[in-house]
Amino acid sequence: GTEGGGEVFCDKEIVRMDKAKRKAIIAGNWKMNKTASEAAVLVDELIPAVKDASCEVVICTPFTDLVTAVEKTKGTNIHVGAENVHFEKSGAFTGEISADMLVDLGVEYVIVGHSERRQYFAETDQTVNKRTLAALNAGLKVILCVGEVLSERKDGITSQIVCAQTEIALGGVSADELKNIIIAYEPVWAIGTGETATPEQANEVCAVIRSLIERLYGKDAADAIVVQYGGSMNDKNAAELLAQPDVDGGLIGGASLVAEKFTAIVNAASAK
Ligand code: 13P
Repeated sequence: GTEGGGEVFCDKEIVRMDKAKRKAIIAGNWKMNKTASEAAVLVDELIPAVKDASCEVVICTPFTDLVTAVEKTKGTNIHVGAENVHFEKSGAFTGEISADMLVDLGVEYVIVGHSERRQYFAETDQTVNKRTLAALNAGLKVILCVGEVLSERKDGITSQIVCAQTEIALGGVSADELKNIIIAYEPVWAIGTGETATPEQANEVCAVIRSLIERLYGKDAADAIVVQYGGSMNDKNAAELLAQPDVDGGLIGGASLVAEKFTAIVNAASAK
């Protein structure tokens, strides 16, 4: 391909110098879990447990839990995100939620393009782009998810897939707006399977994404952007993944539903 060995070398140069400039972000993706009353219990457990974190702590919850999460976390260091957003401002889109609706609630983040939305809800690179632009326009921070499926990894096209997903999703995003983008590299084969990417595999793709950002937006943007890993990250493997030079945080599914596990991951990130 066009991305040869020189670029890999280049990635390593970038990260060695600049990881310290970035603040790690640990984000929970609760997926379709927790009623509002259950959410209240989990948030109450998390607030004291993560209060001294030196990383950014985000919980992305179902729409029905957002009010509870926002109210309970006011004045704490926990930030709240949604798991999806529609791209239109308003109108006849039964069952959908707009970016303005989220902002009005006090929501700060939104996950866009999660592989489960791509797989089960017909999300495409184009709709991911539209959702990204709508969310940025409303003032939300976007956790943009990209990642290859197992057959793509086996075919040796992981970099191409992830770069194409990222580049299309960022179409029309300005350098200034990029400051409100976090990219989550989530290999689909590692999500909910208990099969984690090795730290080296995770780092390799996060570095490829950072190289793409450098090509699209320049070195300062590449140094600044937070690239998370997601996929069976847990209290046991987090430290090793987060120690990688290009892994700036995690997007955590299952382990984010258990206060002790999520807290251990936050602590691992804070120790960096
Ligand atoms: P798991 O941590 O449950 O594998 O989920 C990862 C994920 O999809 C986070 O968005």
